[in-house]
Order: sequence, then structure tokens, then C-alpha cells
Amino acid sequence: METQKMQRVEKDLSEQIKNVTMESHMRAENTELMLSFQKGQVTRLQYKLLLSSLREIYQTLEDELDRNSNHPAVEPIYFPSELARLESIEKDLDYFYGPDWKEKIVVPAATRRYCDRLREIGEKNPEFLVAHAYTRYLGDLSGGQVLGRIAQKSMGLKSGEGLSFFAFPGVSSPNLFKQLYRSRMNVLELSEEQRNGVLEEAVKAFELNIQVFEDVQKILSVAEDHQDSKVVKSNSALQSSVMGAPLFRMLLGILVAVVTMGICMS
Ligand code: HEM
Repeated sequence: METQKMQRVEKDLSEQIKNVTMESHMRAENTELMLSFQKGQVTRLQYKLLLSSLREIYQTLEDELDRNSNHPAVEPIYFPSELARLESIEKDLDYFYGPDWKEKIVVPAATRRYCDRLREIGEKNPEFLVAHAYTRYLGDLSGGQVLGRIAQKSMGLKSGEGLSFFAFPGVSSPNLFKQLYRSRMNVLELSEEQRNGVLEEAVKAFELNIQVFEDVQKILSVAEDHQDSKVVKSNSALQSSVMGAPLFRMLLGILVAVVTMGICMS
């Protein structure tokens, strides 16, 4: 009886994917950026940089899901009205950066690599998109819900301000929705080879996220070093105006180029 149950459970893609990504999930949780969240120490600059990368990632993911929405391995897990994040992220970017956010956001090399991979599989292996949709959306509906509340406190935001990303108005119960999503994953008709490919892709999806977090953190430490050395004597009001100034943004752009070139070459 127990063995039968084990066999049935192991055949479920939702269980397999959770098992194969367990170790990667722990590594993602323990990145410096995610630890800042968990300790309630996330800063506005940190969050703005993360949000800028998430905008590129969700734009690409959602483009590819839309384009492949009739594919048999995408259609059952295609929930744009419940899950789509792009619009809410853009609303938050508008809140943090202002209406000209498109000219201000900084996106590191790891984010571009993540998007390249999403485009590549959207073209060649749309069935792998489930691995990426699972990694991001089920993460947002799980730990992401707690992180949203912590972020609000850490950044001293009023309820809902700049935090649309964490809100899923089309999902009344995240737990029930996750159950539905898992059941849809479990009815996808995949060959053995495709299923193994999906599992490998899920591990890759976590790895791509980890690399984005690391790149964001690198940009941040370079920016902080720069700020420490240049404005060490100034008061906090002056510092915040420097952070928003065009010169600072230009320098940040150059620093990002240097950091990301270093990453690409290593
Ligand atoms: C501070 C960082 C994080 C915390 C505290 C956290 C916490 C959690 C928690 C408590 C769950 C629910 C586990 C369960 O229901 O059994 C969960 C699930 C999940 N998380 Fe995270 N998480 C974090 C970061 C991430 C990241 C960065 C990703 C992916 C990029 C991610 C992806 C997922 C996924 C896909 C699930 C669903 C697992 C499943 O039910 O199959 N998490 N997380």
C-alpha cells in the first residue's frame, strides 16, 4: 500500500519538480539578497534593482507563455489573469523611479542571460516553460507572500504602496491556487525525455535566479562602496539626493557595465 502510494506520488511532476529543486531552493534562500529580505533589512536600492531585473524576466516569460499559450504543454498551466506580473511590476517601478523608469532601470548580465534562455526555450522547447513558470509563480505565491510583508516593513511603505508585485488580486487563496496549478502540471502529457528535460530546466531556472540575485548584490556593493567613498561626510538628505541624481545613475551604469563585463569574462 505504502509502496503503491510512493510510486503514484513520484510520478507526479509537481512532486518530482519540488524534490529536484529542493537543494537549489535552499541555495536561493541563502543568497545575500534573499537573506536581507528574511532579516527585514532590504533597502530601497536593493529592492529597486531586484524589481528592475524582475521586470525583464517577467516580460520575457509572459511573452513566451502568451506566444505558446496553445501549446499542449503550456495551455493547462496558462493563467495570465491570475498570475501575470508584468503590469504590477511596472506600476511599482513607476512608484519607485517615477514615470521615466524605463530610462533609469539597470539590468545586469545575469538577467539578460535568463531572458535569453527563456526566449530560446520558447522557440525550441515550449514544454520547458512550465519549469520557469513554476519556479517564479509558485515561489511568488509561497515564500513571496511573506517577503512582501517584510519588504513593506523594511522599506517603511504604506500598505500596498510600491508592492503590487506581491499582490495577486485574481487569486483568492494562494494555497488552493497552488493545488490547482500542481494538478495542472500533473496532467501535462510529456514523454519521459521531455519530463526529464523539464526537471533539468527547473534546476536551471533556480540557478538563473540565483545568478540574478548575485549580480544585483554585486552592483549594490559597488554602488555602496562608491557612495561611502564619495559622500562619507554628507548628511543623509544629501546622500539620498545623490542616489537619485543623474550623475549617480550614470556612474552606476558604468559600474554595472564593469561588473557585468567582469562576470561575463569570468
Ligand atoms: C527568502 C527567500 C525564500 C523563502 C523564505 C522561501 C520560502 C518558501 C516557502 C515557505 C515555501 C512553501 C514550501 C511548502 O509549501 O512546502 C516556498 C515554496 C516555493 N518557493 Fe520559496 N522561498 C524563498 C525564495 C524562493 C526563490 C528565490 C524561489 C525561486 C526563484 C522560490 C521558489 C519557490 C517555489 C517554486 C516554491 C513552491 C514549491 C512547491 O510547492 O513545489 N523561493 N518557498
